[in-house]
Amino acid sequence: MSKSVVILTGAGISKESGLDTFRDADGIWAKVRLEDVATPEAFQRDPNRVHAFYNHRRDGLMHSNVQPNAAHRALARLEAEWPGDVLLVTQNIDDLHERSGSSKLLHMHGELLKARCLACDAVMEWRSDMSGQSECLHCGAPGGLRVDVVWFGEMPYHMERIYHALANCDLFISIGTSGSVYPAAGFVEEVRRYGRPSAQTVELNLEPSDGASLFHDCIHGPASEVVPAYVEELLETR
Ligand code: APR
Repeated sequence: MSKSVVILTGAGISKESGLDTFRDADGIWAKVRLEDVATPEAFQRDPNRVHAFYNHRRDGLMHSNVQPNAAHRALARLEAEWPGDVLLVTQNIDDLHERSGSSKLLHMHGELLKARCLACDAVMEWRSDMSGQSECLHCGAPGGLRVDVVWFGEMPYHMERIYHALANCDLFISIGTSGSVYPAAGFVEEVRRYGRPSAQTVELNLEPSDGASLFHDCIHGPASEVVPAYVEELLETR
């Protein structure tokens, strides 16, 4: 029976592709207050400010020099070549995992290149600027769109499927996340408390995360170096 793998990624895996993390010294939350742009209250209070924040990030993501890096590609290779199940759960709202070929992928915090209609709840691809005048492509209601991203205080997506996978995996790999935002920060404990007794947990991160001591193993270094090396080693054991 081949071992099943669950992978969690955070902003650190996309840093070397040119996208900012959140809590590094030069991160997003060092430049703007999350209370002003990433909560339902912020959207209620000043929707244009929230639209502008995500328009800027969407613009940046779609810039030609933002491409998947070797870490994204290594995870797509693992999905393609690993004999057992591989589920990639990302906190990231970028599309770099998709663009590198990962398909067994869940965006628990939503996607920057998608919009959701507050009138009919439809979700649609959205690659241009969004404003209070943007119209839903399904129901046509004007002014009712929001970026399909999970804000602080909202329930992340796919949680039932994620917890089921954590309870049944043999290996949990956490990559490029500070381990400071729940529920993702609690996944390693979920595996250790409610998962298979033999399940292994490993952190691949530039530096020890808040939860580093909870992992069986930790490998520190830039994702574009440590992730391909780790995947290579893993595939040799299959
Ligand atoms: N390679 C690997 N790890 C890196 C690299 C790199 N090149 N650069 C930075 N890191 C690590 C940092 O050391 C840090 O531990 O990536 C982690 C990024 O942590 P955060 O900025 O907190 O990002 P993340 O953990 O994804 O944040 C979780 O918080 O703000 C919310 O919704 C947002 O999904 C996000 C969530």
